[in-house]
Amino acid sequence: MPVDILPIERRHIAGFREVLDSVARERRYLAFTEAPPMPQVRRFVLGNLRSAAPQFVAVDEGRVVGWCDISPKTREALRHSGILGMGVAATHRGTGVGARLLAATLEAAFASGLTRVELTVLADNAAAIALYRRFGFETEGLCRDYLLLDGRAQDAMIMAKLK
Ligand SMILES: CC(C)(COP(=O)(O)OP(=O)(O)OC[C@H]1O[C@@H](n2cnc3c(N)ncnc32)[C@H](O)[C@@H]1OP(=O)(O)O)[C@@H](O)C(=O)NCCC(=O)NCCS
Repeated sequence: MPVDILPIERRHIAGFREVLDSVARERRYLAFTEAPPMPQVRRFVLGNLRSAAPQFVAVDEGRVVGWCDISPKTREALRHSGILGMGVAATHRGTGVGARLLAATLEAAFASGLTRVELTVLADNAAAIALYRRFGFETEGLCRDYLLLDGRAQDAMIMAKLK
């Protein structure tokens, strides 16, 4: 069965939280160390649905195995730009799911009128950085000691892509 890339719907909320939780608990890639509580995740997704903010999920036989979302900023002067977050379950990495999620979400973001998409990625996350570069993201800056986890400080890069 192929993995489907779908705009998120209410029925995906619990699965989205589960895959976010599993990636967060790896403690290697995200600023989350676990998923936020369900009500918070539900509010986030329902807010995205209401505002038509781009959020896609990868679904394998009913199980959510990845996500990508772009949250538009709210202030008038910043509304042309959005912040991207994504992840793929460890079981499904390296099979093209991340690239498909990113392609779908970027296309929706630019179609909706956004002209700038930015993200923060840990400086040693080679897979994610390669993926973002492949899609035309450029490095704009380095955040020193951005994250401090398990006694280790890690730098992060700000990357962005303009339409
Ligand atoms: C980063 C991530 C989303 C990529 O998703 P994926 O499904 O594994 O990636 P894909 O299989 O679609 O690969 C797409 C591209 O990513 C890059 N890539 C993926 N895995 C890689 C690896 N292990 N090493 C180097 N580049 C890699 C390559 O550019 C690849 O393109 P190619 O196949 O033409 O070489 C996934 O590894 C992940 O979820 N990591 C943990 C969470 C995370 O880092 N989220 C992003 C936080 S900013």
